[in-house]
Amino acid sequence: PDPLRLGIAGLGTVGIGVVKIVQKHADLLSRRTGRPVAITAICARDRMKNRDADLSAYRWEDDAMAVATARDVDVFVELVGGDSGIAKDSIEAALRSGKDVVTANKALLAVHGQALAELAEGLGRTLRFEAAVAGGIPVIKAMTESLAGNEIRRVMGVMNGTCNYILTRMESAGLPYEAVFEEARQLGYLEADPTLDVGGIDAGHKLSILSSIAFGTQVNFNAVEIEGIERVSIDDIRRAADMGYKIKLLGVAQRTPRGLEQRMSPCLVPADSPLGQLVGGTNMVVVEGDSVGQIVLRGAGAGEGPTASAVLSDIVEVARGVRLPVFGQPATSLKAAQPARTAVP
Ligand code: NAP
Ligand code: HSE
Repeated sequence: PDPLRLGIAGLGTVGIGVVKIVQKHADLLSRRTGRPVAITAICARDRMKNRDADLSAYRWEDDAMAVATARDVDVFVELVGGDSGIAKDSIEAALRSGKDVVTANKALLAVHGQALAELAEGLGRTLRFEAAVAGGIPVIKAMTESLAGNEIRRVMGVMNGTCNYILTRMESAGLPYEAVFEEARQLGYLEADPTLDVGGIDAGHKLSILSSIAFGTQVNFNAVEIEGIERVSIDDIRRAADMGYKIKLLGVAQRTPRGLEQRMSPCLVPADSPLGQLVGGTNMVVVEGDSVGQIVLRGAGAGEGPTASAVLSDIVEVARGVRLPVFGQPATSLKAAQPARTAVP
């Protein structure tokens, strides 16, 4: 069988993680998809950077656009990041060149997801983004596939590893915010612009994507009410602990009589609850469906291996020829039947 040929733009934490899995599990991936999975073209900003992986077998392209439109690429894997610019332009170019696209870019999807989904579906291509929400936890596939027989009532959870790491380390080690922030950087959790993490924006992006899938609405990041963790002090954390609570940056999306409510903010949760016991960069997503009841998904929400694992799940789906609608239902139907709703004031 013909190999599935990947072009990867972005060789940072996630991109190198993807390269390593493709190299390490070539046989496994081939067995699971029925065809070899091969990298043909790659790019990043700095060709001379030492990247902790052997990239000598791949063609280095000058920029993401060249990877996106290369004739020997079937799937464009966008791991550059950013909510516009080259990430958006190269994804559009790849789709228009007949490629399928896999991305981890929640910032882009939260803002341009609907338009990109319409473009992909109009061109008969697919756009997949399991890694964009909760890193290694397969929450998108859980909602679009495993829970497809449910009306979703509520989605909530901890969706930013950096914030959970900072909040739990501040408490357990008694370290100041600045010190644990630096630890999170070392672990590869931070966005290129870390204010997106601690400001709750990154988690808000993820919640907007999840809630569009859960409730069949257009992604509407502007409707998410957001408060970050910058003002949470060690005293706040200690007082909460004295009363039997933990402080978590918690996202909640649910239907209410007044519309779809989407909130991302520091919340008190009981210390002995599953959410209260979540430590480090771990994420947890709780989904409530009308038939299944409550499902709790827990796992690494960031970092090289877990995020690359999720990217590979999309690549495998494409290799198998799965052509599901981008948001679990056709983007055009979301547009016609489900206009974006605003949050409850
Ligand atoms: P990163 O470590 O900062 O890597 C970004 C890569 O993109 C670098 O290799 C960089 O090149 C390259 N790049 C930047 N601008 C470029 C341009 N104009 N053209 C070509 N390449 C360019 O980022 P990351 O953590 O891997 O994240 C990648 C994406 O995954 C982002 O959308 C992020 O939000 C998402 N994500 C990350 C995680 C995580 O745990 N890190 C988890 C889920 C989702 P140089 O190396 O030469 O600078
Ligand atoms: N910066 C993000 C986090 C990476 O800390 O959760 C994973 O999306």
